[in-house]
Amino acid sequence: MDIFAHRGASKAAPENTMASFQLALANDSDGVELDVHLSADGVPVVIHDNTLLRTAGIDAEVHTLSAADLTKCNANGRWKGLHTPIPTLDKVLQWGMHTPLLFNIELKSSPTNDAHAPEKVLESVFQYSLQKRCIVSSFSAELLTHVKKVDDAIETAWLPSGPVREWSAQANACRANGIHMNQRFANKRLVSRLRSEQLYVRVYTVNTALGTMLARRMGFDGVITDKPAMARAVMKRQS
Ligand code: G3P
Ligand code: MG
Repeated sequence: MDIFAHRGASKAAPENTMASFQLALANDSDGVELDVHLSADGVPVVIHDNTLLRTAGIDAEVHTLSAADLTKCNANGRWKGLHTPIPTLDKVLQWGMHTPLLFNIELKSSPTNDAHAPEKVLESVFQYSLQKRCIVSSFSAELLTHVKKVDDAIETAWLPSGPVREWSAQANACRANGIHMNQRFANKRLVSRLRSEQLYVRVYTVNTALGTMLARRMGFDGVITDKPAMARAVMKRQS
């Protein structure tokens, strides 16, 4: 079962920053999950919310600022005093190409992202030759359909929120290769069924040792966690 550090090792370092991604690597994660929005000038930047308020303390929407301005913002969250700028996707992938990490790039839905993010993100992925180590995920089936139109071979995963009985059909409709489910839906029978339909199945956000053990027993392909060191310790104990 692969361990993906959610927004990097975000329990111990500011989320979606180089510090959290570097810590995820040091914590022996298999991959990192990161969230992407487009800047006003169409550059993919790594940040979860639509606004800068929670992580960088600035009352502005991400899509209204240029990449140059966004990367000057310090996304240190509750780690006051730390210098941890908002990274561009390019910056993360340029670093990432020299590591063995997998990259779960979550496209957030917004009017700006929906129009251009798939092209921009895949351009970056190809620039650093990371297409075999990337999964593009999204709650938006429309965005994933768009990704497959840009490049059919890129692995995608859908984050479902509606009724479980519709998941397979909806994942197939957007040609997703996998499903990343909230842990509240997790059960062994569902995981087996989805895997038997050739879908990769991963679960978020699992932050306890018990949850990690159960995810492994249920047969998930991957676990997405804020605490990759905890998940790695569980995996080592169980092997
Ligand atoms: O990839 C799973 C997870 O990141 C989805 O939720 O809100 O943390 O991006 P969120
Ligand atoms: Mg996410």
